[in-house]
Amino acid sequence: MHYYRDTWMEIRLDAISENVRNIRRYLAEGTELMAVVKADGYGHGAEETAEAALEAGAKWIGVAMLDEALFLRKRGIDAPILVLGYCPPQHAQVAAENRISLTAFQEGWLEEAGRHLTAPLNVHIKCDTGMGRLGVRTLAELDSLLAALKKSKWIRTEGVFTHFAAADTLEGDYYQKQLEKFQAFLSRFPERPEWIHASNSAAALLHPEAAFNLVRTGIVMYGLSPSEEIKPALPFPLKPALSLHSRLSHVKKAEKGAKISYGCTYTAEQDEWIGTVPIGYADGWLRDLQGQEVLVNGKRAPIVGRICMDQCMIRLPERVDPGTLVTLIGRQGNEEISADEIARKRNTINYEIVSTLSQRIPRIYKQGEKIVKIKNSLFS
Ligand SMILES: Cc1ncc(COP(=O)(O)O)c(C=O)c1O
Repeated sequence: MHYYRDTWMEIRLDAISENVRNIRRYLAEGTELMAVVKADGYGHGAEETAEAALEAGAKWIGVAMLDEALFLRKRGIDAPILVLGYCPPQHAQVAAENRISLTAFQEGWLEEAGRHLTAPLNVHIKCDTGMGRLGVRTLAELDSLLAALKKSKWIRTEGVFTHFAAADTLEGDYYQKQLEKFQAFLSRFPERPEWIHASNSAAALLHPEAAFNLVRTGIVMYGLSPSEEIKPALPFPLKPALSLHSRLSHVKKAEKGAKISYGCTYTAEQDEWIGTVPIGYADGWLRDLQGQEVLVNGKRAPIVGRICMDQCMIRLPERVDPGTLVTLIGRQGNEEISADEIARKRNTINYEIVSTLSQRIPRIYKQGEKIVKIKNSLFS
């Protein structure tokens, strides 16, 4: 698989493996890891991330929707997969046929799924302890759900879980309340299901007491912190797996007073070297990144003028040749631009930065310095 474009993403699979191994080492004996690879592995590639995580000892794969799970099955991923989000009950049979576990929290859903099933289906019961998204909210609701499950011919309760809303802050009261509520839900099970899980990345690393026998880690596996606030409290350093690069397609001198890009929002204050970079908002390099710096020859250079759909312009510290490497996320020499820096600039979180880099950008997978795979979604 080839690509013909001077903009690409590099994914260090060895960084993902190392992060997974470090998380596993940190977890108590008997606690397994679910690698959360929804949204195409937070932009890193679901299949590649799942493979790297499983090789490094992850036991489960977590995705948001059935389509993502089926994609992984088609690509030969054989590990247990849980769909963490809602799956319409009429698709329960497809999940069952593909040994994909679903999330359940409504009696009506169980009945409807049951009508479509002709094979056993594993479900994990979702308890809403304070996230306010999906799940049973009261003990009475859980009791009726458990009673309905008891009567179900094909549906088996394989797990029970909840999701923390505020584990990525240093203030622990809300987390504690959710944990206590989850314990109350657990006490209603006549028999504990095989898998009990609550922790996302932040909880897995900051609250080992809530690990039960499975944690669901996404962001830390990719080497990014769940929040800026808890970064200093993380128990081991994380290795970011993703970097983003391009090459200058044009370099020219803009005379003092020259305007750059749509809307003429930038005016050269003196004679300046301006470079054009072939990446734009359709790649996920959004217009609010105007003013953000990139790296050229180890030095910072700001994006000037509006970001276009496929290109943007930067003010170079000196004249350089067209074709010179531009690093938008990653390191050059002593300088580094992290996904966190981009998130700060865009007033959002690193999750959003990496998961919205568009599929138009080719992905180059590396083990150390060796390229092991090139993926270009435009050709597949
Ligand atoms: C239910 C559930 N579990 C686990 C995760 C993984 O979260 P994180 O990437 O913070 O580890 C997510 C992601 O948002 C999720 O929705």
